[in-house]
Amino acid sequence: MFDPSIGCDAVGFAGTVTHSPNYFQSRTRINRLIDRYLSIDCLSDCLSDLPSQFIQPHQRHWNPIHWQAIDRNQIIGIDPEIFLSVVASAVEIEAPIRAYAKESWDYLQAVHPQMASFMGGTFTEQGQTRTVGIWEKEERQHAPAFGKIYQQLTGEKLQPKPNTVQGCQSMDDPWSDLNYHVLSRIATEWSATSVYLWLMAHSTGELQQAIAQPLIDEVNHLAKFWGFSRWLFDTSYQQQLQGSAQHLVSLLQHHQDERSHANSLLRLNRDTLIYSLELTFTFTRVMVRLHRWNQELSYSYLRHLLGSEPVPVTQCVA
Ligand SMILES: [Fe+2]
Ligand SMILES: [Fe+2]
Repeated sequence: MFDPSIGCDAVGFAGTVTHSPNYFQSRTRINRLIDRYLSIDCLSDCLSDLPSQFIQPHQRHWNPIHWQAIDRNQIIGIDPEIFLSVVASAVEIEAPIRAYAKESWDYLQAVHPQMASFMGGTFTEQGQTRTVGIWEKEERQHAPAFGKIYQQLTGEKLQPKPNTVQGCQSMDDPWSDLNYHVLSRIATEWSATSVYLWLMAHSTGELQQAIAQPLIDEVNHLAKFWGFSRWLFDTSYQQQLQGSAQHLVSLLQHHQDERSHANSLLRLNRDTLIYSLELTFTFTRVMVRLHRWNQELSYSYLRHLLGSEPVPVTQCVA
């Protein structure tokens, strides 16, 4: 049974610590982390927790992080500057979470108000926030956590520039608008899961444990959105993979265009090829694991879990 106060971890686990893992050792570490944090049971528990979120919203509480115990020696097998640049990018990409949550609420409210509340909370008739959604509560911890990690590793405070959020773009069909939007959310959770796993493969000790906390949230959200989307739109694995991969490509292009801290450093570094291969490997392995899990998600199981499909009410609220 999924315990939101614990998530799916007890201790960090990437296998034997080698101070400078080579490419193949890093792959082994990535596989071990996936086995631990994206086990089939863990993914199933995250999804089966969703209906109870609609009835009684509950936030997953983080394990305590000993910030003072984080230090630069816990970065392994990678140029620390590259590691730090990816941490800095995480701070930028994770914000502004309020705008992301409102964007999702606008798409969801017309079709599935309960999921809208889970993502973006509830509002008064005047548009003022009444309650904050669980997804937002969990996600809004991520940017400050990566900011603290960065500060602990460098002694410097990061001045992030928040991402731009498009907002709800109505195309007069709430269902296809929402389908498109949910695939974009799957892409961002897939991306965050993969990048944080890769950072954990290049870290040990308290640093690795600190990154595990946002990682567990991302895996939780990825499983929930994946199952919700399969149920609502009756899509196949291939359709979800294709749709989210298209969003992923535009996401990566967008960040490339923004010339984020990480990209500029990655372009200059001679180890770029290895890191790109490792990241590609991580993104792929996460999707392979989702494929295995997806085989357990029959439509009858999803209906049993989430009920009959909702009936669309109105258009996108924005
Ligand atoms: Fe996040
Ligand atoms: Fe996320």
